[in-house]
Amino acid sequence: MEIKGAVGLVTGGNRGIGLGFVHKLLEHGASRVYVGARKRADAEEIVAQAPDKLVAVELDVTKPDQVAAAAAQCTDVTILVNNAGAFNHQRLIGAPDMSTMREEMEVNFFGLVSMSRAFAPVLGANGGGAIVNVLSAGGIVAVPDMGGYSPSKFASRAASTCIRAELAPQGTQVCALIVGSVDTRMAEHVTWIKKTPPEDIAEAGLFAVRHHIDEHDTDPHAVSVRAAIARDPKALEKSMADRIAAQASAAK
Ligand SMILES: NC(=O)c1ccc[n+]([C@@H]2O[C@H](COP(=O)([O-])OP(=O)(O)OC[C@H]3O[C@@H](n4cnc5c(N)ncnc54)[C@H](OP(=O)(O)O)[C@@H]3O)[C@@H](O)[C@H]2O)c1
Repeated sequence: MEIKGAVGLVTGGNRGIGLGFVHKLLEHGASRVYVGARKRADAEEIVAQAPDKLVAVELDVTKPDQVAAAAAQCTDVTILVNNAGAFNHQRLIGAPDMSTMREEMEVNFFGLVSMSRAFAPVLGANGGGAIVNVLSAGGIVAVPDMGGYSPSKFASRAASTCIRAELAPQGTQVCALIVGSVDTRMAEHVTWIKKTPPEDIAEAGLFAVRHHIDEHDTDPHAVSVRAAIARDPKALEKSMADRIAAQASAAK
């Protein structure tokens, strides 16, 4: 599908990869972009950059009333970008309680599904359109240090496949983006890998939309993870388990 003339809605559009999508949608000729943000003031700050094309939407993807209100307000959307994400850097067993992993599932999985359900009729009414799901390399390989996050992205990858099948009859594309390492607040702690600029991830995501690619690795780190899985998935799993074991023995 072409981006020129499209109408986008980006969840978590106020910063990071989401803001990259807002800018790239405009650059590729979208006629309007709804900037979703939990705090309306954050979205309004972005909208001031191009008030003729951008529209602020207060949108926490875990709040059903706000999701429904967005679908009622933004009836011309043709590209939904499910970008909003939470990452808490906890382990499944080692976390003090399950609150952080529940948050990751709520935002990363249920938020994506909730938005897709709300906007499926909108996209259908507008000719099909596309859903872009911003996933993670942690959604194709289980990362023990990303206890709730990695499973939430696996679930979202499976959801992408299910939604693609369900919405194919109405002509809606579903692009699952496998994202590696990006220079945003979420990855501030990452110092050992070269991080890709968020705009490049958005560019790769729109490439996937334009070329009807179902699942797309957006950056060098995602490509290298995919290659490591293809080469020897057990070796990759073992290398991560060994790291956890080394940390445990160092802590003794
Ligand atoms: N950075 C990476 O290396 C990396 C790698 C793989 C995948 N990703 C994925 O890329 C996506 C964007 O992350 P990022 O790197 O751009 O991180 P970021 O800079 O931390 O941005 C996260 C965005 O999600 C929003 N958000 C969080 N919870 C939300 C909720 N309940 N409802 C609506 N918005 C919510 C945040 O809003 P506030 O400003 O209000 O907090 C913020 O706009 C995420 O899905 C993430 O999992 C990132």
